[in-house]
Amino acid sequence: TPRVFSGIQPSGGLTLGNYLGAIKRFVQMQEEDFETIYCMVDLHAITVWQDPADLRRNTRELAAGFIASGISPEKSILINQSQVPEHAQLGWVFSCVARVGWMQRMTQFKDKAGKNTQNVSLGLFGYPALMAADILVYHATHVPVGEDQKQHLELTRDIALKFNHDYGVDFFPITEPVIEGAATRVMSLRDGSRKMSKSDPSDASRINMTDDADAIAKKIRKAKTDPDALPSEAAGLKDRPEARNLVNIYAALSEQSVDQVLREVGGQQFGAFKPMLADLAVSKLSPISGEMARLMNDPAEIDRVLARGAEQAREITAPILKKTYEIIGMVG
Ligand code: TYM
Repeated sequence: TPRVFSGIQPSGGLTLGNYLGAIKRFVQMQEEDFETIYCMVDLHAITVWQDPADLRRNTRELAAGFIASGISPEKSILINQSQVPEHAQLGWVFSCVARVGWMQRMTQFKDKAGKNTQNVSLGLFGYPALMAADILVYHATHVPVGEDQKQHLELTRDIALKFNHDYGVDFFPITEPVIEGAATRVMSLRDGSRKMSKSDPSDASRINMTDDADAIAKKIRKAKTDPDALPSEAAGLKDRPEARNLVNIYAALSEQSVDQVLREVGGQQFGAFKPMLADLAVSKLSPISGEMARLMNDPAEIDRVLARGAEQAREITAPILKKTYEIIGMVG
């Protein structure tokens, strides 16, 4: 069976962008004909300094978010990256396969480093090599992600190809990005040209999965829009990034296409549409945040789930790493 891998950084709380761009799809793929592995990527999180207590809490809360959203530890392997050491081990190998020039082209690195390219961690620079290892240490074939990870997945293919070529083997598969749906790029509620992000300094720019109903309604009410009514078809959202974003969110939450949504709400003003969107968001998100809070009352149970996930994962990763080392010529 084809194998799915994807990961999320425990570097802060989950946002609606993570949920619609990634987790919702993770749940769907779990129900389809795939073997699914989902990961808290704590080793990636520390490429930027994390307070240890926050990292511990965010990792468990992310695990709770996965489970509350419908990822079942019975159907999927749910892991924390540092508990499966083969990720870091293959990551080192891929640091030796990937080229510095490839990393320098990564737009996410350029965005995160800004002008300060000399004083970021070496890990932030080499981040995509570890990400390729996350995927390929399972020989995963499908990787569901939001739009912003596309370039990293192209690099994953380049690393697999170069490894196979350099060692004259056909060992690592070429993985397919799965970037689908109305919300592969959820934008900030304050600025339609920036993506919704857990690291945006403005909390009003995003909906957090832990926001309560009042906070969600307030953020949507205050979301930036333009003064025009909603159009009756998708083409009318061109050049209206804020309007398009809210309609995309509505479509993704209600599992309709943008055109279906606009058939229903075209001609309405935002004064009428925003409360509909807020009600829909609250009805979809509050059961999840309620369940997350309940799971967080028993962190020991979360830790047991992750320990079991790590054991299952290592049954896959240990033989793949061993074979990789053999191909390279490591004695042992
Ligand atoms: P991260 O933690 O930034 O985001 C996790 C997932 O959420 C998606 N996402 C979004 N989708 C739509 N709109 C948004 N505004 C939005 N913000 C985030 C991301 O595309 C991602 O799918 N490098 C990865 C983590 C990672 C990984 C991997 C992913 C590490 N190893 C292996 C896949 C496979 C990251 O930083 O995601």
